[in-house]
Amino acid sequence: MQTILGSLLLEHPVMVAAGMCKTRNHASEATQSLASAIVVGSYTPEERTGNEGNVYYEHWENSTLLYTLNSLGLPNGGQAALERDVPYMVTCAHESGKKLFVSVVGFSPKEYGEMARAAACFGADGIEINCGCPNVWVHGEQEEIVSYAPRSLVNVLYAVEAKLGNLTIPWWVKLSPFSKISDLKIAAGIIAQSKAHGVTATNTLGNSLFLRPDGTSVITPNRGLAGLAGPALKPIALANVRELRNLLPDSFFVIGCGGIMNGQDVLDYLHAGATAVQVGSAYASRGNNGVNNIIVSYLELIS
Ligand SMILES: Cc1cc2nc3c(=O)[nH]c(=O)nc-3n(C[C@H](O)[C@H](O)[C@H](O)COP(=O)(O)O)c2cc1C
Repeated sequence: MQTILGSLLLEHPVMVAAGMCKTRNHASEATQSLASAIVVGSYTPEERTGNEGNVYYEHWENSTLLYTLNSLGLPNGGQAALERDVPYMVTCAHESGKKLFVSVVGFSPKEYGEMARAAACFGADGIEINCGCPNVWVHGEQEEIVSYAPRSLVNVLYAVEAKLGNLTIPWWVKLSPFSKISDLKIAAGIIAQSKAHGVTATNTLGNSLFLRPDGTSVITPNRGLAGLAGPALKPIALANVRELRNLLPDSFFVIGCGGIMNGQDVLDYLHAGATAVQVGSAYASRGNNGVNNIIVSYLELIS
């Protein structure tokens, strides 16, 4: 039941998504889970403290998680932390038979390229280029979401290719969810022309809002606008996976991400054309148990 993701061999298809592990402690805890791989980061060039106030919300009804909202704003220790911590994280992961992938973000194509190179040089097994964070705002204006800006997407992928040069490390692009297929087609066309090895679909759906009964927002920064994830995201992420599978050449892999809470969700993504999947909200809400339950339920379904 091993999973072949490009040139990578995984024990099974379920990994921990980006955003869950940003420190040595987070990563070493996650290496105790049953996940086959862990995506650490996202890392930016400079250290970031992230947004302030209430930045994460879980919506539960009748003991069921319906969705999460987050506006963390990419808190992380920056490239210095990547260089300091990733070699240790890789060792921990390898000792437990897992792969360690690093998610990177830049605020220009050049920064994306430099961060990707740092991840490669400090031992990552693979690099996820995060083109889909919706939660960085500067002076009240949302930063561009690269997934939705074709010219920037071209420039970012070109800069990553150039900086990675002859390094053979697998790298792939993480996209935001698309509701317009013609736009998804444009993004897929750009990825197909690049030297990326695959794509992850999807990051959170940006600019989502939940109000308490008194009309106040559950999230503090950016007028309450936040990234939607969890089960509410699954239908759109699943559709993006199926469409991307059809749009991209077979040599590109597709990783599914969005609302995976049990083994059937994993199977749904595999049926839609994903080779592997990532778990975010279930991990954010329940830690290792969240991802372990999914893996056990998936293994029972396929046995
Ligand atoms: C609290 C939280 C933090 C996140 N941080 C990141 C991040 O740093 N980089 C990234 O690429 N995605 C980040 N994400 C998005 C997840 O990796 C994932 O794409 C998204 O949550 C959909 O998966 P899910 O429905 O399983 O949560 C974050 C998600 C959550 C809930």
